[in-house]
Amino acid sequence: MNSGSFPEVRPRRLRSTPAMRRLVAETRIDPAQLVLPLFVRDDIVEPAPLQSMPGVVQHTFDSLRAAVAEAAEVGLGGVMLFGVPADSAKDAQGSGATDPDGVLNAATRVAVAEAGDALVVQTDLCLDEFTDHGHCGVLAPDGSVDNDATLERYRDMALEQARAGSQLLCLSGMMDGQVVDVRAALDTDGFDDVVLLAYAAKYASAFYGPFREAVGSTLRGDRKTYQLDPANRREGLREALLDVQEGADVVMVKPAMSYLDLVADVAAAVPVPVWAYQVSGEYAMVEAAAANGWIDRERAILETLTSIRRAGADVVLTYWAVEVARTLKGL
Ligand code: PBG
Repeated sequence: MNSGSFPEVRPRRLRSTPAMRRLVAETRIDPAQLVLPLFVRDDIVEPAPLQSMPGVVQHTFDSLRAAVAEAAEVGLGGVMLFGVPADSAKDAQGSGATDPDGVLNAATRVAVAEAGDALVVQTDLCLDEFTDHGHCGVLAPDGSVDNDATLERYRDMALEQARAGSQLLCLSGMMDGQVVDVRAALDTDGFDDVVLLAYAAKYASAFYGPFREAVGSTLRGDRKTYQLDPANRREGLREALLDVQEGADVVMVKPAMSYLDLVADVAAAVPVPVWAYQVSGEYAMVEAAAANGWIDRERAILETLTSIRRAGADVVLTYWAVEVARTLKGL
């Protein structure tokens, strides 16, 4: 009889060689499980590098085309588009979001034409890039974010995005009722096969810092009246369950690394795919440490993504998607 313990039991046997470790790895990353976020502007002629996100740029329509082609070539599952309108195109209602020729809708047409069937083109559905005050919704006279008035804007925005060819709308505004409302608007207009991803558990996080440069955010103040408090775990799960009930096809946890407990909770509780967004600050931290020679960049990147998948995320949004896909494919 085996004693059930040492010296017969030696867990290290399973770690003895690279081939053995590869064979017993519990978590794998496939390029099809990665989505690349892309920023697009219509008022620049060359791609504009982002200082706080080395290696990431704001795209022109031409460089967007090339980026989509590259994403398809390395086998990514999708790209997620963010529009960056000129400051002069911003107003209190975020009108650019519902303009068929607004930067995001125009970029969507370009990306969809380039992508064909190779990957899924997804769009951010939120007003913050388009409002002059920088909030994710429209404001009430007292300056607070007006939930129900914002839903009207989201419904119109959803219809324009669907008309532009977006196959998956990413509801990132954290307004109550946004999923059920947008679903109804889409279905009424015949867009019943457009997928809805709900940023179910989106936290008011300091890790979005570099993103705000990426989209030229004009926000003063914070988003604490609509995004979740980082202290709250049960409330994050509640948001995810509500979104599933409202008809979300996919739910997202964001940020990823500091919220792996949420990823695990949500993955255990919902019957739909669970995605996680490795946000700009997570990217910037690893890049900055690596640039200083303080961390092994490639290993650290793979470890972060493996950990997010291990916690239960089916798909990860990451600014490293193309590079990682190439590494995984040995390209
Ligand atoms: C808001 C939005 C944010 C991000 C994506 N969409 C940030 C915010 O709430 O300010 C952050 C993404 C990142 O940091 O990479 N629509």
